[in-house]
Amino acid sequence: KATPRVRQLTAGLIQHLHDFARENELTVDEWMVGVELMNAAGRMSDSKRNEGQLLCDILGLESLVDEITYKLASDATDEPTATAILGPFYRHNAPELAMGSCIVSDEINKTGDRTWMYGIVTDFRTGKPIEGAVVDVWHTAPNGLYEQQDPDQPEFNLRGRFTTGKDGKYGFYCLRPVPYPIPYDGPAGDVLKALDRHPMRPAHIHFLLKAPGYKPIVTQIFDRKSKYIDDDAVFAVKDTLIVDFKPYEGDPKADFELPYDFKMASF
Ligand code: DHB
Ligand code: FE
Repeated sequence: KATPRVRQLTAGLIQHLHDFARENELTVDEWMVGVELMNAAGRMSDSKRNEGQLLCDILGLESLVDEITYKLASDATDEPTATAILGPFYRHNAPELAMGSCIVSDEINKTGDRTWMYGIVTDFRTGKPIEGAVVDVWHTAPNGLYEQQDPDQPEFNLRGRFTTGKDGKYGFYCLRPVPYPIPYDGPAGDVLKALDRHPMRPAHIHFLLKAPGYKPIVTQIFDRKSKYIDDDAVFAVKDTLIVDFKPYEGDPKADFELPYDFKMASF
């Protein structure tokens, strides 16, 4: 639709593309490389491979728009949980699981470091627990693959949605994730190679939080001990999202515990 905003964005994009071509004296052959890259990304994009988003991410674009979108009001005394990029591997309709259950549905994956993650979802202004908050979580298997990338994992492995009760508390069993490479056998990988950059992301767990009356939070948490914590291929790490996995005694179902509280902002 030709809204003023659409016209503004389109005109701005054209202006910057033209400036880019002029400043770099872009040739027809060079421009065709870009066309081929976009076509290849389009051909590769399906429900298992979100190549267009991947390409934006290695260029830092998703992290930049995340920062722009969620800029905080400067008068806030406390802050809601920081956001981070969604990334290309979110799936809608992850299983709705009972609080306290385990998202590791595949026996093979129980070779990973089993973790009890728990905390409370609160209103960042009042500190009160939020009832009915949905914690939607997803992470990679010990082989570094999300379930939709890996035919050996059952569908929706390492994904789940948990809804808080009156006390705002959540908890589930998962695995301590590992660093892993973003898919680099396509156009995004070609760009990384051209820039002499690696494809690795630090170990992370993804979250999408929703609650009635509150702004949704898209975020990730990062393992402080993970390699690449200072050198994420898609620039998503923020200080407040770095967490510590602690050895956990006394629970036969977990090797580590991971306490983490989420703070949401009402509309
Ligand atoms: C990207 C994000 C991820 O969380 C991930 O696991 C892989 C790639 C990305 O932003 O491209
Ligand atoms: Fe990820």
